[in-house]
Amino acid sequence: MSAALAIPRSDEGEPPSIENLTLQLSMARGVDEILAALRSHARALVRADGITVVLRDDGKCHYADEDAISPLWKGQRFPLEACISGWAMLNRQPVVIEDIYADDRIPHEAYRPTFVKSLAMAPVRQDDPVAAIGAYWATRRQPSQEQIDTLLKIANSAAVAFTNVTLVNSLVAAREEAVRAKEAIILAMASLAETRDNDTGNHLVRTQHYVRALAEACAARGLFADELLASNIDLLFKSAPLHDIGKVGIPDDILLKPGKLTDAEYEVMKTHADLGRAVIENAERHLGTCTPFFETARTIAHTHHEKWDGSGYPRGLEGDDIPLAGRIMAIADVYDALVSERVYKRALPHEEAVAHMAAQRGRHFDPRLADTFVEIAGTFRDIHERFMDAAIAR
Ligand code: C2E
Ligand code: SIN
Ligand code: SIN
Ligand code: SIN
Ligand code: FE
Repeated sequence: MSAALAIPRSDEGEPPSIENLTLQLSMARGVDEILAALRSHARALVRADGITVVLRDDGKCHYADEDAISPLWKGQRFPLEACISGWAMLNRQPVVIEDIYADDRIPHEAYRPTFVKSLAMAPVRQDDPVAAIGAYWATRRQPSQEQIDTLLKIANSAAVAFTNVTLVNSLVAAREEAVRAKEAIILAMASLAETRDNDTGNHLVRTQHYVRALAEACAARGLFADELLASNIDLLFKSAPLHDIGKVGIPDDILLKPGKLTDAEYEVMKTHADLGRAVIENAERHLGTCTPFFETARTIAHTHHEKWDGSGYPRGLEGDDIPLAGRIMAIADVYDALVSERVYKRALPHEEAVAHMAAQRGRHFDPRLADTFVEIAGTFRDIHERFMDAAIAR
């Protein structure tokens, strides 16, 4: 290996060798990484004065990257028919040109400002070229068979890498599609669960809007600044509809009971918080991924019945131990329950509901959230009225 050590080290820190290049190419996760690997290895391996990597891009040759003794065409695009890389891709074969000015496939004008006298060009993925790799020399020559073989080997490794990256990209796209589908299914389940004990399903839409209004009001007052960045507020808004997803597991005779629950029935009812957490966790497990959406939804489902003074369920968490998302959801959920009719109770007028909420400051609710709620209670009333009207107009 002492001969290899004598070769100047590339900017990746690895001595250029076909093995290192092939390894780097096989691990490339994107076109950028393919280009970087070629840029740092190919010129030394082929012993050329310049290397270009040309991507086939919508009928054009895109000179995407280069490593050369002086600038070539990096960033430029030429029609496939008007350049030699296009010729190699269209004809699916490598080409060697000893005297470029004697060959009319070469756009001489484009070459005159450059150092190039001779070149070799290899298509990448010979059956369906997606790119080409060019090698250039500043003195006129017929490159050796070894140099041409090296260029072809590099093109072969790059072909595998381009195919991998394309496959990986389509897998990622498919997985993102699956995540969106799962989110949609979960939301559909949530509204199904909801419409069992709430005619309109508008409770879900309203709680979304309450949660956002409260979070934005807190942010405007400098409360919970670290946790309430705009992106988090958006997550709260999107996740809020899942807060009672666990009610899918509560039997009709309890959930739809027209009167007061017995203690035993209420114990069953309370399991909806743990159930909700489990349903979302299960969806995450099937997805094999944990998205911020599911994480926030899981936290809300699990913790929206905890109370500031520690008397809530399922865990009896206290104060700041309750995740902020759960504390915010508690305000939205209880306000909406109070001002709405349920199978088991009449609706309260807005003012009575607000008075009840205010009395729970420091008991059920985080005092800062309760105070902010009282300040913007009019917004809560507007949201309730707005989405009640929509349901009636249906
Ligand atoms: P929900 O109807 O969405 O109520 C959510 C939360 O709002 C309740 O959580 C409670 O904290 C508050 N809340 C609702 N109505 C009232 C009320 O009239 N007065 C007061 N002070 N607070 C109220 P909670 O109690 O843990 O109940 C969770 C869920 O259990 C309720 O969701 C509802 O689906 C069910 N539930 C609770 N009590 C009864 C009941 O007596 N009968 C029936 N059928 N279901 C009940
Ligand atoms: C609860 O069960 O404590 C809340 C609902 C109600 O007061 O009927
Ligand atoms: C969860 O509930 O799964 C995480 C957040 C929490 O409950 O503290
Ligand atoms: C409800 O949906 O809980 C009551 C009716 C409404 O406010 O839309
Ligand atoms: Fe609930």
